[in-house]
Order: sequence, then structure tokens, then C-alpha cells
Amino acid sequence: MKILLVGSGGREHALADALVRENTTIELLAAPGNPGIAQRARTVPVKVGELDRLVALAEEEQVDLVVVGPEAPLADGLVDRLRLRGIAAFGPTREAAEIETSKHVAKSLMTRAGVPTARAETHRTAEEAHTAVRERFGAPVVIKASGLAAGKGVIVCATEREAHAAIDRIMDDRAFGDAGNEVLVEAFMQGEELSLFALTDGTDVLTMLPAQDHKRLLDGDDGPNTGGMGAYTPVSIGTPSLIDDVTERILLPTLHALRKRGSPFTGLLYAGLMLTEEGPQVVEFNCRFGDPETQALLPLLESSLLDPMLAIARGARIGNMSPLAWRAGASVTTVVAAANYPETPRTGDEITLPDDDATRRVYHAGTARDASGRLVTSGGRVVAVTGLGATLRDAQRVSRAGAEAVGFEGAHFRTDIGWREAARHGA
Ligand code: GLY
Repeated sequence: MKILLVGSGGREHALADALVRENTTIELLAAPGNPGIAQRARTVPVKVGELDRLVALAEEEQVDLVVVGPEAPLADGLVDRLRLRGIAAFGPTREAAEIETSKHVAKSLMTRAGVPTARAETHRTAEEAHTAVRERFGAPVVIKASGLAAGKGVIVCATEREAHAAIDRIMDDRAFGDAGNEVLVEAFMQGEELSLFALTDGTDVLTMLPAQDHKRLLDGDDGPNTGGMGAYTPVSIGTPSLIDDVTERILLPTLHALRKRGSPFTGLLYAGLMLTEEGPQVVEFNCRFGDPETQALLPLLESSLLDPMLAIARGARIGNMSPLAWRAGASVTTVVAAANYPETPRTGDEITLPDDDATRRVYHAGTARDASGRLVTSGGRVVAVTGLGATLRDAQRVSRAGAEAVGFEGAHFRTDIGWREAARHGA
């Protein structure tokens, strides 16, 4: 079995690790990969934006499966192009990926399908958006760039003044480029967030354990938003009955609406949920595995990842497959970030890393080899250290000790990943 994995982050390292651990006979190629993935795969210097070269690589190498990690190549139609050449690809088509790449499309689809989500309006001019805030929403309120904005296009505003400034930033200053051609003005939801991932053939789902991301830079959920500073699983408030409820009232109707729209979604559907007093509501959908939740989830997956991925990519149904099975215990992932992250991360600092062992996985994200072969920082989130343990506390300890053992100038990380769950257990 030959697989091409597209991407270069911690999420892709976790996918590579899980696939190769599951089946050591897999021949894995990664484009472009990273130095950590290179320990598991043959890396090829083709970037995720080079669609022609990716399709040519998949054809030349006669791969059995392409797994697409990040959203950008999905938004650009990589899966459509691979399928046209008869190559099995895991991930949605360009149109189906709009569930993530257009917040306007996602919101309209949810509204039509009766999927619980916050009330929102889409506007194409700043003036209309300002009026919406002033006359119909007030504050707190959420202002969202409709398009892809590298996870930065959602601005939670405590006051109307902040909301007007956010609209100006997105629409007048074009802080997120074309992603800000439309903005959504959305009612603020109060509650706890939960990430739920589902492998799907477009109709049926295999849900993963619920996980929780930590978006803020600093302990206590303080500081600026980031791509995610850590994650943990399982989350006790994500009970089996809550997952069943989310499946029935959110995942299946959304997939049905996507089929009805003529853009069936296959791959990994990521539901970003808010657990409100009125029940779970959708904050956003993503069309791919989340980062860093994937780094926390996959080490606990006991059943096959490859079997459902392959079935989905080949257009087969997964409704008759057994639910995914998980190891007992907890998993906590701590992201170690570069100096100046999330603004302008410093790069080029030499890195030393602890080794993987039975309870620890070190996933590379922003790492590279310099001309003399040294491992150096090359991005904001440098590595993610996952700790496994019988309890959340054990997993936290392993993850934190692993993060402390990561050495590079300016390294920083949160020390409280999983704090909400710890508080629930009275710790
Ligand atoms: N964990 C947030 C994301 O993957 O978008």
C-alpha cells in the first residue's frame, strides 16, 4: 500500500505516525512533509499549493491513496483533480470544502437544514455590517471574515466599538485579503467549546472522541488567539449521549444538506461546537482534521484509521463499519511555540528534542533542516508534545515534562492544557 500524505504540520506528522504504526508495510510519501515526518516517510519537496506537481507525483508514484491534510489544497480542488485521474483521495471536493472555506455557505446551509447555530447575517459592505451591529446585534457579538483566513478571521467583540473596528479591519483594511469580501455578523454564544471529528462517506459517520482545543496564547485562556496551543481528549462533558445528539441533529442533517446541494462531503468533517444552555450549537465546520486536536486523538485510536479512510476515498460506504475503538486513558498535547508567536515568529533557532517513548509523542510542525543539517525552527508552532496516561493528570505531567525538555531559544508553551477537565475533577 502506497500513500501520499499532503502537508507539513503537526497534524500531518500525527497522521503519518498513526498510519505507519498501524501498518508497517505502508510505503508513505509526504509532500512536502517535515523533518519529523521524514522519519516515517519519503519526503518530496512539493508544496501544498503546487497542485499540478502533486497530481503528477501521485500518478508517477502510482499511489493507492492520497490523504490531504490542510484546507488550502482542498479549497483549490486537489481532490477533484485527483479523482478525475482515477486516484483515490481522502478529503472533500472543492465545493464540499466550502463548508469551511465560505462561512456564508456554511451558515446558509445550516439555517436551511435546521442545524442549531447562532443567528447571523452576511454583508458585502462595511456600511451594512455596521448597521447590523448597531441596530440588530449589539454586543457582545462575533465578526467573521467569510473566507479562509488561517484561523484568524473570527473576532469576538465585547463592545460595539470593537465590532465596528473589526469590520473596518476586515473590509476596509483588508486584513485577511479576499477572505474579507463578505463578513458575517453573528450572535455571541456563551458556553464551552468542543471539537468533534467524524470520518464520513457523505452519508454515515464514524465519530472520534471529543477533544478540546486551547486557542489563547497564555495560561488561563489569556492573551491573543493562536492556531491552537494545546488540546486534550477525552472530554467528560462530551458524553456518549451528547455525541449521539450531535450526530443526529448536526452531523447527519449537515451531510444530508450537502448531498442535496449536489456537493456530497467525504473525508473528515470537523464540527466546532459550543455547548450552550440550549444544547450544542455549531460555531464552525472545518473540512479537515484539526490541529492540534489530531495530535491528541490519534495516539489513543485503537482501531484502524486506514480502513475507513481507504473506503471513503474509494467511494465505498462506511455505514456497516464498527464504531472507532479507543484505548483507555487520557491524552494531552502541549504546543511549544517560537519566540514572538503568534505575531512574527522568530525562525532559525537550533532545536533539541526529547525522544518518543511509550507515553510520549513529539510531533514536528515548524521545524526544518538548515544547510548544515541542524534541526531549526521554521514556523510559529514548532512542535507538539503529546503525553499519554491513565488519567488526565498523568497525561498532563508527561506532556508538560516533554515540552520542558524541548530546547530552543525563546521556546514557550502553556502549562495548563486540560485545565477545564482538571477543574471538573476537582483538581
Ligand atoms: N484546532 C483548530 C483548527 O484546526 O482549526
